[in-house]
Amino acid sequence: MPLQTTEKIWHNGQLIPWEQANIHVMSHVVHYGSSVFEGIRAYTQPGRAGIFRLHEHMQRFRDSGHIYRMPLGYTVEQLTQAVIDVVEANGVAPCYIRPVAFRGYGEIGVNPLKSPVEVYIANFPWGKYVPGNEGANVCISSWNRLAPNTMPTLAKAGSNYMNSQLIRMEAEVNGYDEGIGLDVNGLVSEGSGENLFVVRGGVLYTPGLASSVLNGITRSSILTLAKDLGIEVVEAPIPREFLYIADEAFFTGTAAEVTHLRSIDRILVADGKMGPITTAIHDEFFALVNGTKPDRHNWLTPVKVKVEEPVGA
Ligand SMILES: Cc1ncc(COP(=O)(O)O)c(C=O)c1O
Repeated sequence: MPLQTTEKIWHNGQLIPWEQANIHVMSHVVHYGSSVFEGIRAYTQPGRAGIFRLHEHMQRFRDSGHIYRMPLGYTVEQLTQAVIDVVEANGVAPCYIRPVAFRGYGEIGVNPLKSPVEVYIANFPWGKYVPGNEGANVCISSWNRLAPNTMPTLAKAGSNYMNSQLIRMEAEVNGYDEGIGLDVNGLVSEGSGENLFVVRGGVLYTPGLASSVLNGITRSSILTLAKDLGIEVVEAPIPREFLYIADEAFFTGTAAEVTHLRSIDRILVADGKMGPITTAIHDEFFALVNGTKPDRHNWLTPVKVKVEEPVGA
């Protein structure tokens, strides 16, 4: 989908014009994929706007850098303030926020340690990510997710998304909305940019963190909301065929939010409609982020912007 520009981008402590946020083609990241990033949404509530789980996203941003020996040079609190500053400067809400840190210009060679670390934060309007309101039609990808001890999936690194691109391209070329990757053991991992949940017999299942998944912040929010709603949750390895006999299945993610799956490998998930547990979780999630229910977990950080109607896809 085309990128919608805003006015300012935060760069290493300064707000700069969007069109000046450029890098040199010889920057380390361009050649060796040395970046980590985040994706965050700001939602609007009646008369106000709030950024969803900002602190947790900034903690994961720093953690991703830490795994790659890439010190971001800012505390979680400083990064949190930087996000608030850029969102308020651009005055766009609802919006998607994209912090990115990478190894910049000056050295050549694989070892990144002497290349400078650059941190940027942009925000822009962005609507629905997984197409279709009738539920997503997904496939199991022929590409596996990253094997343990190859690329660390707990780091949200740009390079991990080469694997995601293979999964997503293959799915779309074959007429699906999205693909699900299996892990190195052939067990269910996650979508190219989403965590996966499955319901069977009233119990909610999701793969654990050892199944080559990103430790999704929406995933952790859904686990909390499921417990609030009295739904039994099991984090466990999931065999592929469990998906075919699921009563319900859904993706979660900052971009995908809560998206129910209509079919997997052209096998309908039950009758293909959003089931009762998915509906309960979906409605609870949107009630909290849209402010129709109180923010009982303090997940929204307020920002001072003029509140607009939500943007479409
Ligand atoms: C591979 C992958 N898994 C899961 C997620 C969901 O994570 P979160 O809920 O933190 O956005 C994402 C989204 O960024 C992702 O790219």
